[in-house]
Amino acid sequence: MGRLVIVSNRVASITPGKASTGGLAVGIGDVLGKAGGLWFGWNGETSPHAPEQVQVTEHGNITLATIGLSRKDYEQYYLGFSNNVLWPAFHYRSDLIRYHRDEYEGYQRANLWLAEKLFPLLKPDDTIWVHDYHLIPMAAALRAMGVKNKIGFFLHIPFPTQPILTCIPPSSELLRALSHYDLVGFQTPSDRQAFVDCLTRESGARKLDEDNLQMEDRVVRSGVYPISVYPDEIEDQAHTAASRRHLRRLRQSLLDRKLIISVDRLDYSKGQFERFRAFEKLMEIQPSHRSALSMVQIAPLSRSDIKTYQKIRHDLEGEAGRINGRFGDIDYTPIRYINRNYERSTLMAFFRGAQVGAVTPLRDGMNLVAKEYVAAQHRDDPGVLVLSRFAGAAAEFDGALLVNPYDTLGMAEAMHRALTMPREERKERHASMLQQLKTNDLGAWWRRFLGDLGV
Ligand code: ADP
Ligand code: F6P
Repeated sequence: MGRLVIVSNRVASITPGKASTGGLAVGIGDVLGKAGGLWFGWNGETSPHAPEQVQVTEHGNITLATIGLSRKDYEQYYLGFSNNVLWPAFHYRSDLIRYHRDEYEGYQRANLWLAEKLFPLLKPDDTIWVHDYHLIPMAAALRAMGVKNKIGFFLHIPFPTQPILTCIPPSSELLRALSHYDLVGFQTPSDRQAFVDCLTRESGARKLDEDNLQMEDRVVRSGVYPISVYPDEIEDQAHTAASRRHLRRLRQSLLDRKLIISVDRLDYSKGQFERFRAFEKLMEIQPSHRSALSMVQIAPLSRSDIKTYQKIRHDLEGEAGRINGRFGDIDYTPIRYINRNYERSTLMAFFRGAQVGAVTPLRDGMNLVAKEYVAAQHRDDPGVLVLSRFAGAAAEFDGALLVNPYDTLGMAEAMHRALTMPREERKERHASMLQQLKTNDLGAWWRRFLGDLGV
């Protein structure tokens, strides 16, 4: 096999154990750690003008090649079209789409510019794997430069159905851009189905068989590759000495109270606001939980330059304060709301210490936290996963208590059921989810994708 070249908007830290929030970073870190290769993308910095030079650094078998963005590209490509149009639309929030044609042009321009910077680093037998919605036009840009290598694309977030996708004014161009990849991968069967429907109905593609579509002179293959975790590794991480210390601190601070934990980037798609409301409802309908239950919400800040993200932050701070004011006491804080990052092993230990993992996004591609929570549990006394039916993980986990995050009372009832579930039922549910994680781990995700790409 030739070299693997990964292209993603954000290139994360590859220091083992170091926190980097976002499922993409966790997944790519693993592929490259095991297979080696080059990781190309944005270094997270901006400057008044686009930098000329790509910075290349070697880390064992991984080469990182990163570059800054000009302020204009950051605003138009990253904040604008990627996160004010594609992100809300792909998460079924057409009400939050803010489309400006110049930002779409900026998105195209930045993709072309990134492709030009990547081009000189490529070798003829490289396999190129592009990740996520920021870089949909990357294959077409590389093909126009004469790149003949295999190019695959994986979408980490949901793919919307036709009525939502077509709210995006240049939706046909996006579909056409996706058809330049040799393989397009999705998290769930319904995401893939939505893509196939859109490409056939909107772009005139013809279905050749289950996996392949004919689009003009190109054959586009698509597949389902649910991203995952390594359950054994997570169990070990939850056990290390340092995490045991953190867990002790958490337990001491809780006294004997039960704990519901939630960990997700501060993002309107994650349903944190609705979750706080459900926690409040639980306190109302089951007074026995008052003073006997805490919720920890860890929510690292994300995309803070975007108004909708500033608003959700403001709203959540208000809700946490209000609910704590209503049910708290001098020695009791019902909701602990935290914006900081933790080391991975610490986070896994927190998961192990919580009787309930509440993972209730309004819409989510996969949600690795759901899988991490399950993997971190004690097999003989596991906690219960309360999971949104709109998370990709719901397609795999029959042992979770599935909820609709728009149903506040239903979520409160599910939290109560989870908190009072007999041990035998908890063990049964956990065992079936753990089995699923072992069958489809993180290695299976990238090996199957690269195998289908023909590597
Ligand atoms: P997304 O990719 O949308 O952010 P996922 O749930 O798929 O959502 O992935 C989030 C990843 O980031 C998980 O691996 C999770 O453990 C990690 N993470 C989230 N919050 C923190 C935090 N505060 N500190 C460290 N890691 C975090
Ligand atoms: O999985 C969704 C995702 O967009 C990833 O691509 C990314 O790692 C994460 O969310 C964090 O987002 P951002 O790179 O905008 O900080």
